[in-house]
Amino acid sequence: MSLSFATMSAPLSMAMGPFHRTMPVMSAAETFKYPLPMVIGHRGAKQIAPENTIASMRAAKAVGATCVEVDVMLTKDGVPVIHHDNTVDRCTNAQGRLSDFTWAEVCQMDAGSHFCPDFEGERIPKLEQLLHACMALGLELNLEIKHSNDDASAVPSEEERQREVDLATVTCQTLLALDANPERVFLSSFSIAALEVAQQMLPHFKRSYLVEDIPAGWEETVRRLGCVSFNFNWKKASREQVEACARTGVPLYAYTVNDPARAQELMSWGLAGVFSDCPHTIRRHLWSAGLNLARSSKLGPAVNQPPPAALPFNGLIPMVA
Ligand code: G3P
Ligand code: MG
Repeated sequence: MSLSFATMSAPLSMAMGPFHRTMPVMSAAETFKYPLPMVIGHRGAKQIAPENTIASMRAAKAVGATCVEVDVMLTKDGVPVIHHDNTVDRCTNAQGRLSDFTWAEVCQMDAGSHFCPDFEGERIPKLEQLLHACMALGLELNLEIKHSNDDASAVPSEEERQREVDLATVTCQTLLALDANPERVFLSSFSIAALEVAQQMLPHFKRSYLVEDIPAGWEETVRRLGCVSFNFNWKKASREQVEACARTGVPLYAYTVNDPARAQELMSWGLAGVFSDCPHTIRRHLWSAGLNLARSSKLGPAVNQPPPAALPFNGLIPMVA
């Protein structure tokens, strides 16, 4: 018998047992200080399921995550889909640039087998499918509007900038058409052009400014774009830099933090939260350290429950032989 997240949907409420802690409703000051959930599952739960697939969202939910991040890109015929790389080589059984394939062609690709044979047949979802899945699962959702250049720190060419504007426009139109809930969906991007579009089209949705290296003038950019947070790569920042950023009062989030001790250390430097491929491991550790996992969640006080100590499968690969 094999069991995969592709078919598993029950949350682990039984394993959560008696650990529930009731927390007071957040004050306005706390909402400002902690605008996003403390632990955000990176591309779903990338460590235990194929990234950016519906199965990865189910896996994140199954291990107790409350919020996931995914990446949005456009197909050749302008359909917003959930995928990270500019090419499909790493995460599917096809090869080439995603933007050279139509949605009909993307639908034929296997986006699960690269991770584990049990996920064969998993697809690249379109934004609409992903949004419906996350809302049905009760997950908060961070949509990252992808930048065009492979180098996130590079200044985009005019053509790349226009592609980012087009993607952001379609993403915002899709969220409007689907009547997405701004309490449950928030946006982020390395692309300043994309954030400008989001600011204009969806001013009531939270936005975050993403960077690799922390650039000079980052705080001015955050404030000009009306972003609720500044999200950076923790590997590119020193303790001094993080603490200096924290002193500005801008809420800080770091990606991608998979070591629980590192997550706790970064939080002690002034971070408001982290992105992780293993949100269950990080949530359990921070909860054990006494942090209030629910302090910024729109899902209510019940969020401050630890994920289960044991994962609901035999090892990291979600498969029971
Ligand atoms: O949003 C955090 C993180 O996803 C940004 O980097 O390259 O994993 O999309 P990347
Ligand atoms: Mg991302």
